[in-house]
Amino acid sequence: MSRTKKTHQNKVWGGRFTDPTNKEMLIFNSSINFDKKLYMHDIEGSLAHAEMLAKQKIILKKDFSEIKSGLLKIKKEIENDVFNFKNELEDIHMNIETRLIQLIGEAGKKLHTARSRNDQVVTDLKMWIRDEIEVIENLLKELQKSLIMQAEKNHDVLMPGYTHLQVAQPITYGHHILAYVEMFGRDRSRLLDCKKRLNECPLGAAALAGTSYPIDRNFVAKKLKFDFPTRNSIDSVSSRDFAIEFISCLSLISTHISRISEELIIWSSQRFNFITMGEQFTTGSSIMPQKRNPDAAELARGKSSRVFGNLMNILSLVKGLPLAYSKDLQEDKEPIFDSSETVRSCLINLNGIINTIEIKQEEMLSALTKGHPTATDLADYLVTNLNFPFRDAHKITGKIVLLAEKNNCALNELSIEQLKTVESKIDINALKVLKPQVSVSKKTSFGGTSPRLVKKAISDAKKRYL
Ligand code: ARG
Repeated sequence: MSRTKKTHQNKVWGGRFTDPTNKEMLIFNSSINFDKKLYMHDIEGSLAHAEMLAKQKIILKKDFSEIKSGLLKIKKEIENDVFNFKNELEDIHMNIETRLIQLIGEAGKKLHTARSRNDQVVTDLKMWIRDEIEVIENLLKELQKSLIMQAEKNHDVLMPGYTHLQVAQPITYGHHILAYVEMFGRDRSRLLDCKKRLNECPLGAAALAGTSYPIDRNFVAKKLKFDFPTRNSIDSVSSRDFAIEFISCLSLISTHISRISEELIIWSSQRFNFITMGEQFTTGSSIMPQKRNPDAAELARGKSSRVFGNLMNILSLVKGLPLAYSKDLQEDKEPIFDSSETVRSCLINLNGIINTIEIKQEEMLSALTKGHPTATDLADYLVTNLNFPFRDAHKITGKIVLLAEKNNCALNELSIEQLKTVESKIDINALKVLKPQVSVSKKTSFGGTSPRLVKKAISDAKKRYL
């Protein structure tokens, strides 16, 4: 008895144990170092649960008011950094509950009636993710705003568009940037969609079977701003697809962050020289005095792999688990927390980068003199004005490109006589379509790059996203 008392003196589950927990196991078993992040949601959940217990006359009103003041005191202790978190109390739930009992005594022992850590932890986690979704959705909105502003300033700035990273066709910088606004817009809607599915309250599922106490799950769900209580107690405590979905959303966001970062990195390299990034987001080299490296963008690109790793982590964590709860699920938290924190910091820094970018219009324009970006316009001219079927027009234009390459010149530097050696029907007007300005102004199909449409797309994007 004295041994039990000594070794499990603080444990709420210590009753049936006689041997102490192995020291290594104690650390192995503990999650408090990372799940203390859930303290606010844990307290919020406990307050709702206790209020319901009192309302249902499962505990006394007086118990509830003592529990409430105890929990609020604990919240302050944690926030003032004076709460003594203990490894041997495993997790945030037991750390708080034990402290509550220490503070208020008997009433504190009643809080865990009709509840289990299994439904408690998953409720906390859902609330935590719900809040994160709001933060990240807002950061995405901020980023979209910066991108839209930049697109607006540069809606008619010409640059080469690329496919295969080979010069393809002239586009406007504004149009290119708006592509990312669309991606981040879908990311936002995916997060909101994830939140919709997630927003069912597991509390009341208890360990796995539900409970024999006359609880009111609707009351708790409503109090905690969930849409409904979850429908199946076993599913409630075993499923983590909401978390997997959240990290999936974060993975897609990371993919988009990584792609735009990659482009900014390429564009700021000396070869491209399309943009410069602000010094606040670049660093020097310890050996090469001339260097200014795009570290922030590189980190935003690099950190995406952490998030993908976290997604694989949590997918494989859940896949082999029998129903209902297994302790494996304690491992869900770190990938969730890390992914969220990573994406937050990437979005904040990317937004910062975007706001410091300077665009080099001249360089972008001069890049259009290489790679024959308006060859397709010439083919289109042959179709529209000279009635060639597109496949023939493509072939003729290909031969003209070959001719230009042999002469080491651009298409518009070929004389009309030279063009006629390829196709006698070609007339002088064909040369006019070779100008990048003309090329973009003709891309008037819905969603196209004509500056007029880009301007309209910008005002639409403002309405849709901001
Ligand atoms: N710390 C645990 C977790 O994160 C809480 C649930 C523990 N449940 C249990 N039956 N041991 O999953």
